[in-house]
Formats: sequence, C-alpha cells, structure tokens
Amino acid sequence: MFLTVLTTLNGMGDLARLLKESWSLVEEHQDKVAGYFYARIFLSYPDLRDLFPVQMDVQRARLLGAIVQAVQTLEDPERFDEYLRALGRDHRKFHVEPEHYEVVGGALIESMRAFAGEEWGVEYDQAWADAYAVIASKMLAGAEADPNPPYWYGEVVAHERRSRDIAVFTVLPLQPLDYRAGQYLSIEAPRYQPRLWRTYSPANAPRRDNTLEFHVRAVGAGWVSSALVRRLQVGDMIKLAAPMGSMTLDRRSTRDAVFVAGGTGLAPIKSLLEELTRYNRTRWVHVFFGARNREDLYDLADLNRLAARYPWLSVVTACSEDPTFPGEQGDISDVVAKYGPWKEHDFFVSGSGRMVKATLKRLAELQVPSVRIKYDSFSE
Ligand SMILES: Cc1cc2nc3c(=O)[nH]c(=O)nc-3n(C[C@H](O)[C@H](O)[C@H](O)COP(=O)(O)OP(=O)(O)OC[C@H]3O[C@@H](n4cnc5c(N)ncnc54)[C@H](O)[C@@H]3O)c2cc1C
Ligand code: HEM
Repeated sequence: MFLTVLTTLNGMGDLARLLKESWSLVEEHQDKVAGYFYARIFLSYPDLRDLFPVQMDVQRARLLGAIVQAVQTLEDPERFDEYLRALGRDHRKFHVEPEHYEVVGGALIESMRAFAGEEWGVEYDQAWADAYAVIASKMLAGAEADPNPPYWYGEVVAHERRSRDIAVFTVLPLQPLDYRAGQYLSIEAPRYQPRLWRTYSPANAPRRDNTLEFHVRAVGAGWVSSALVRRLQVGDMIKLAAPMGSMTLDRRSTRDAVFVAGGTGLAPIKSLLEELTRYNRTRWVHVFFGARNREDLYDLADLNRLAARYPWLSVVTACSEDPTFPGEQGDISDVVAKYGPWKEHDFFVSGSGRMVKATLKRLAELQVPSVRIKYDSFSE
C-alpha cells in the first residue's frame, strides 16, 4: 500500500519522476519487497506484530486492494488531502501511534534499496523520504484532529439468519456513535477474527436508542463475513470504527430518486429510505432490489411493508438465476433500464463490484448525468 501511494503522488514534478523511476527497479519483486518490509519492521520492533492480523497472507491480499483504491483516490488532487487525513484518522483503530510512522517509513526505503540492486541511488532515498514525510504528516494531522475515539465497542443485541449465507444483526454501541444514513463503518469481531477490519453499512438511519442494524452476506472463503454470519452471537462484543462515505441524501434535492440494490447492498439503501420516511412528502422513490434467487431477497417482507405504508415508494424485485421467481427476471441493472427514462432522477447504487459496474454502465447509456449518481461498491 505504502509503495503505490507514494509512486502515485502527482504534480510533484521531479519528485514524481524519481519515485516512478526507483519503483520500476523493484516493481517485479513486489511480493519479496513486501515480505522484507514486514520482516524488517517486526524484527526491529516485535511489538508492532500485534497490530497486524494473525494471517499475514490475508494482509497481503488486502494490501493489493488498498493499493488500487489509493491510486484511484490520489489521482484526484482535490480529494488527496482529505483522503490522507481520513486514512490517518482510520489508522487509529489499528493502534497506530505517531512514532510508528518513522519505523514504517525507514523499513519501506530499506526494503526497496535491498531489492533494487546497484542502480539504486541516494537521490531515490531522498525522494522516498520526502514523499513519505508529506503523506505521513497529512495522516498524522488527520488523526490528531479527530475528536472521536479510535473505535467504539458495541454489544450484539440481536442476530438472525435470513438465508444460508445472510444474517441481519443489531449492535448497541456503548457510547453514542454519530454517522449519516448511507455511510459505512469498519467492524472487527475480536472474538473470532482479531485485528481484521472490514466495512459494512448500517441498514438504519441514526436512531434515538443508538442501535445499528447490519446486513451481511458470507462470501466464499471470506474471513470476517463468515464469522459475522455463522458465528456471531447475541452478547458478543464487536468493535466499530470510522463512519465514512458520501452516499448520503441531499435534503435540498427535489428530484425523484432511484435506489438500486444488489443483495446486502440493500443495507445503505434501507438506511436512506428510513431517513426519507422521516421527512419525505414530495419525492417519488423507486427501489430496485436484485439477487440471484428469491432466498437472497432476504428483506423483501420489510421493503413491501414500507411500500404499503408510504405511497411515494415503489419496489421492483428481480432474480437473475431463479426462472420461476414471479417478479422480474435478469440482472437488476437491465431491469432498471427497462423502467426508465430516468434523466431527471437522483440515483443511489449499492452492491457487489460487478453489479455496481454494470449499473453505472447502463445509466451512462441512458444518459443519466454522473453527478446525479452516488454509489458504494463492495469491491474496493
Ligand atoms: C463501502 C463498503 C460497504 C460494504 N458494506 C457491506 C454490507 O453492508 N454488507 C455486506 O455483506 N458486505 C459489505 N461490504 C463488503 C465487506 O466489506 C467485505 O468485503 C466482505 O464481507 C468480505 O469480507 P471477508 O473478510 O469475509 O472476505 P475476505 O477474507 O476479505 O475475502 C475472502 C475471499 O472472498 C473474495 N471476496 C471478497 N469480497 C467478495 C465479494 N463481495 N463477493 C465475492 N467474493 C468476495 C475475496 O476476493 C477473497 O478471495 C462492503 C464493502 C465496502 C467497500
Ligand atoms: C504513509 C503511511 C501509510 C499509508 C499510506 C498507509 C495506508 C494503508 C491503507 C490504504 C490500508 C488499508 C486500509 C483499510 O483497509 O482499512 C492500511 C492498513 C493498515 N496499516 Fe497502514 N498506512 C500507512 C502507515 C502505517 C503505519 C505507520 C502503520 C503502523 C504500523 C500502519 C499499519 C497498518 C495496519 C495494521 C493496517 C491493517 C491491515 C489489515 O487490515 O489487513 N500503516 N494502511
């Protein structure tokens, strides 16, 4: 993660060239560089091992995802500063302290130097040190300015299996936790998967009793999602951190809205819907909820209850692999397109990477302006 973040610093002229040039010397040995980098840190500072997940293989797999995200974010200079401040705030949940930044920065440069061979030069050392210092200072500033605790403890007060792979559970944070409908936050289940954090979206707007409901699907060999669906129990304590994301409602908008959800991508959509039920009188709202089969339309009963109660709400359901399902057939992205035109609507899209990508493509074909589309993709 650190490596690519640094190599993508734009607009820094010569520095950017030096970083790129030096990175190209080690790029093909990425895995080895990463292995050396962690070994270097843990040998010199064994206490830091406790900050990282037990399985470092998982750690590496996750870092690749983080790299892609970091690259994409940093290519946009407008978001550069806020992204790093948020990353710094977020790092407090890993128990990262200010002094760790220097250790990590040193190990980073040493590991690259170790694999670059004779072409490595002192100007490369300097370039990496300078760029790392800029990033670290932004992260540290973000961490320092955050008035919130690094994380909240929450007690699981309800847990229900809705299908073989899907659970809906409710958590009561021990201290108030502020977030906006449509945002997501990080969860760690220390009893089952210590030090592994994943993001999940509350499925309700903030409530007076502070409870948060989550909808989780256990994916393949997924470490955290399987634990949350199959092992988590009422009475367990989990950790929650850093509400993030901008898929929120603009109360000033008078446009009708279209919500497109795939599977547990319904969670933030329900949160937004709940917020709308508190004030909406004038906007028509269309929910498109898709899954592979009817079992995975795990929350349809509640959606239908809402649609019966609020005349401005309509719900369309679709299954892509359930030929006898009585609703729509096919991918939800195609079904939405069928119900258009949608040129005057606000869009909110949430689900797997594949589903979000297909929907965005469809909306582009339908000439929905991208400024009117907000989305959360489960693949980072
Ligand atoms: C902004 C955001 C909000 C999210 N909100 C929710 C939510 O409300 N509910 C929810 O259920 N999930 C949500 N997710 C997904 C969640 O964060 C995890 O990525 C997911 O639960 C898998 O984590 P894991 O630890 O079980 O899998 P990992 O151990 O990280 O991955 C194990 C294997 O499964 C594969 N894999 C990972 N994710 C998926 C996937 N989605 N589909 C298929 N294969 C996958 C990986 O490639 C890997 O091979 C959200 C993700 C993001 C980025
Ligand atoms: C320039 C400095 C740094 C950058 C750009 C950076 C970036 C990142 C990113 C993008 C992630 C993935 C975030 C996520 O999935 O939530 C991450 C995770 C992590 N980082 Fe950093 N980081 C930096 C410094 C540090 C330091 C100094 C430490 C302290 C040892 C550290 C420890 C961790 C840990 C423990 C994780 C979690 C890994 C996991 O969940 O698998 N980072 N970092």
